[in-house]
Amino acid sequence: MTDRVKGKVAVVTGGGSGIGRETALLLAREGATVVVVDIDEAGAEETAQLISGEGGTAGALSGDIGDPASIDAFVATIGEQHDAVDILVNNAGVFDNGQPFADSTGDDLDRVLRINVTGTFLVTKALLPMLLAAGGKAAVVNLSSVAAVIGNAGGVSYTTSKHAVHGMTKSLAIELGPQGIRVNAVLPGAIRTPMTAALLGPESPAVPVYEGVPAGRIAGPEDVAKVIAFLASDEADFVHGAGYVVDGGLTIV
Ligand SMILES: NC(=O)c1ccc[n+]([C@@H]2O[C@H](COP(=O)([O-])OP(=O)(O)OC[C@H]3O[C@@H](n4cnc5c(N)ncnc54)[C@H](O)[C@@H]3O)[C@@H](O)[C@H]2O)c1
Repeated sequence: MTDRVKGKVAVVTGGGSGIGRETALLLAREGATVVVVDIDEAGAEETAQLISGEGGTAGALSGDIGDPASIDAFVATIGEQHDAVDILVNNAGVFDNGQPFADSTGDDLDRVLRINVTGTFLVTKALLPMLLAAGGKAAVVNLSSVAAVIGNAGGVSYTTSKHAVHGMTKSLAIELGPQGIRVNAVLPGAIRTPMTAALLGPESPAVPVYEGVPAGRIAGPEDVAKVIAFLASDEADFVHGAGYVVDGGLTIV
């Protein structure tokens, strides 16, 4: 365990699986007290137990970022447990399974935007007083995607949502930076998690998606967690409003 975020309180939404779980584990290893929030309560509990098993400190909360009442409830609980939040990782999100436009409905778009965009907005807003209470050194990391750079990394709903998260990140950085809150985004490429298992299929050079990655491999969630932890730490104290692409070169070819 290192001390990069020692003494800080970190909230990770969607921390019950994939990138969120690896981020929660890494932040705890680096010294943070982690609040794991997930609509999947069992997943959140499991992450918190994994952290405790490694000697870290974590709590699990059930919460649906697509439901404003649920956000108010879990944020109120965080307020009862902590005086301030130093790190917020807006990681919870849903994919649209690369659905073709012709098969998509307005309801599909609404669902993806409600969770990926409105959820990120409302969680950040609800936690703003606690981020401001962090004494001028708070950090927010939003999970965007290479779907904010290229048009074919998801279906129309997902791609639209991740462009919005990227834009929200820049606007929030301008507004919140002077108040001591850094805001950045991470734009992962193809990462092997439960979200992408069906899409990526077995790991094999014969699968076309792997051929398009100059790094020659599909990443694991820990590859993204490392970048999130950096952005969340004071080592990144002049990194602000940025979008860190973590894609093994997928978007440069
Ligand atoms: N895996 C990839 O290739 C990839 C690429 C780019 C961006 N991302 C983004 O990274 C983030 C994490 O993705 P992942 O691949 O780890 O997915 P995942 O499905 O493994 O994990 C997502 C977690 O979010 C939770 N969640 C979903 N809806 C929620 C809600 N309404 N309220 C609270 N929690 C909710 C899920 O229960 C799950 O634990 C997402 O925002 C995703 O869009 C992933």
